[in-house]
Amino acid sequence: MKSDNLVEDIKARLDIVELISEHVELKRSGSNFKGLCPFHAEKTPSFMVSPAKQIFHCFGCNKGGDIFGFTMGYENMDFSETLSFLAGKAGLNIDEYKGTKTGKGIKESVLAAQVEALKFFKQNLSASKQAKKYLADRGISEETAETFSLGRSTSERDALYRKLKDKGLPDEHIRASGLVNFGEKGPYDFFRDRLMFPIFDLQGKPIAFGGRTFSSSKDIPKYINSPDSPVFRKGETCFALDKAKSAVTNKKYSVIVEGYLDAIMCHQHGIANVIAPLGTALTAGQVRRLKRFAEKTVLVFDGDSAGISATKRALAVVFGEGLQAKVLILPQGEDPDSYIKTNGEEKFRKLMAGALSPVSFLLKFSGGNRLDAVRLAIQAIAACADSLQRDELVRELAERSGVGELTLREELKTTVQKAFKQDGRSRKSETHIMEEHINKEELLLLNVMLTMPEKACVILQGIESGFIENAVIRSIFDKVSKLTDRNLNLTDTLLAGCSDAERVLITKHSIASEGEMEHADTVIEDCILKIKLRGLEKKIKEAEQKANETGDLRDLGLLFSEKNELDRRRILRDRG
Ligand code: UTP
Ligand code: MN
Repeated sequence: MKSDNLVEDIKARLDIVELISEHVELKRSGSNFKGLCPFHAEKTPSFMVSPAKQIFHCFGCNKGGDIFGFTMGYENMDFSETLSFLAGKAGLNIDEYKGTKTGKGIKESVLAAQVEALKFFKQNLSASKQAKKYLADRGISEETAETFSLGRSTSERDALYRKLKDKGLPDEHIRASGLVNFGEKGPYDFFRDRLMFPIFDLQGKPIAFGGRTFSSSKDIPKYINSPDSPVFRKGETCFALDKAKSAVTNKKYSVIVEGYLDAIMCHQHGIANVIAPLGTALTAGQVRRLKRFAEKTVLVFDGDSAGISATKRALAVVFGEGLQAKVLILPQGEDPDSYIKTNGEEKFRKLMAGALSPVSFLLKFSGGNRLDAVRLAIQAIAACADSLQRDELVRELAERSGVGELTLREELKTTVQKAFKQDGRSRKSETHIMEEHINKEELLLLNVMLTMPEKACVILQGIESGFIENAVIRSIFDKVSKLTDRNLNLTDTLLAGCSDAERVLITKHSIASEGEMEHADTVIEDCILKIKLRGLEKKIKEAEQKANETGDLRDLGLLFSEKNELDRRRILRDRG
């Protein structure tokens, strides 16, 4: 049966256990399946899959979601790639769904806003002498400006906002696009009077922007970047990868530089396999994206001390994802943009050809004595996810440092084991800390609601969400209370459009029940009483303070009688 909702139809045809079993060995465990988590290194399985709920959750690293979430994470695809990938698996023809609603209203709207902004910024650039002069001064050709769709945001307060309103976009979607902030005095454009660098996804759709100030004042941030949005995840997007991907595939390696302009300048000079991270340090998500196109990369960084520590961090990330890397440290004070400008592209290409192996880099730039350098190198090698590469690196380290290979291997083994232990511990404590701050009763109610959705009504009738202290749980409760269709799959409905923090709690508490839930009604009643009592006690404290100041005891009186009533009910229940 074909409906007009592609997502629903895919879910109806694919089974999450089958899908995940293609990659993870799953064993039955009660009503769920269990296996080793594919998203973090572990030796004992904490990755659970629920056939009934069609979701997964890892109790080690807290990743969770449905078949779409799994595929996006595992295959490293964005949502639209995942949609066609899974449609293919399900034997559905995606073209037959064109023009139908797939429940992605906000995404489409946010994308439309980016397209509109791109047009607007480009028009402003062609109309601005100042901006064009800036580009010329920096040696950016008109052709390059066109290729990268560079633009300019105006200094008006809300010029883009008005454009987006003209297009009929609702405020809620404009806000989600990150292009406009809504302040006390009304909406104002996020980017004002800046040179605009659009960021494209791999299909060439604009999904975000970076903006560089024209001013050289130290008081203004040089670059600002779009926040994450329904169509943009900073940590999983690389600047210029849309333009670099075929060159990366052909050359079998990518080049990572630090700045937008560095990447653009390389492209302008025919070095087309170059990308940059997005205003932050290189992330694992970005490296995974890159890895789809080539297994090797060259890191090009500044020669100052900040550049060298950034290189070490980037190297750890690159190794962690199993990519092979070389390192090029530019002369102090130079970045690729300035280097190419003063020395020409030929010299830059030569420098790249002579990029250092990571081992030579670490030995050369460790700063400390020789033994420290070797230890540092061992640590970097231990972070390497690819065992063949690890092997090669150790051999090279032995050769270059003069320390015996066997000694190095022993050292590596203990470092890896230590890292593994620490890794396991830190991940556990992360989960722990998160839930430590939530009241047990609030978690328990959430758990009952998600594992026994038929009890949702009882819970919501018993307690208003205002009593829930934890903001994430409160927001989940609010969403459930707004649902009108009782036949919906609760977990599924909640997962569509939830925040990351909500997803962790939703998948986790949907998949496992906190205990025997034969007495669910008693558990619910008990939790609600405790939460309400706690809330009342807090209010009483506040009212006491107020009464001390004003002498007015009315509020306090009311609160006490409410509390007495609750106490009475609890005592009655405990007896009976
Ligand atoms: P750089 O300060 O090295 O700038 O920042 P740049 O790329 O050489 O730029 P120009 O040549 O001065 O124009 C490198 C990258 O760090 C991010 C940007 O992505 C930039 O391209 N960045 C830098 C920010 O996000 N915010 C800042 O305030 C500065
Ligand atoms: Mn620069």
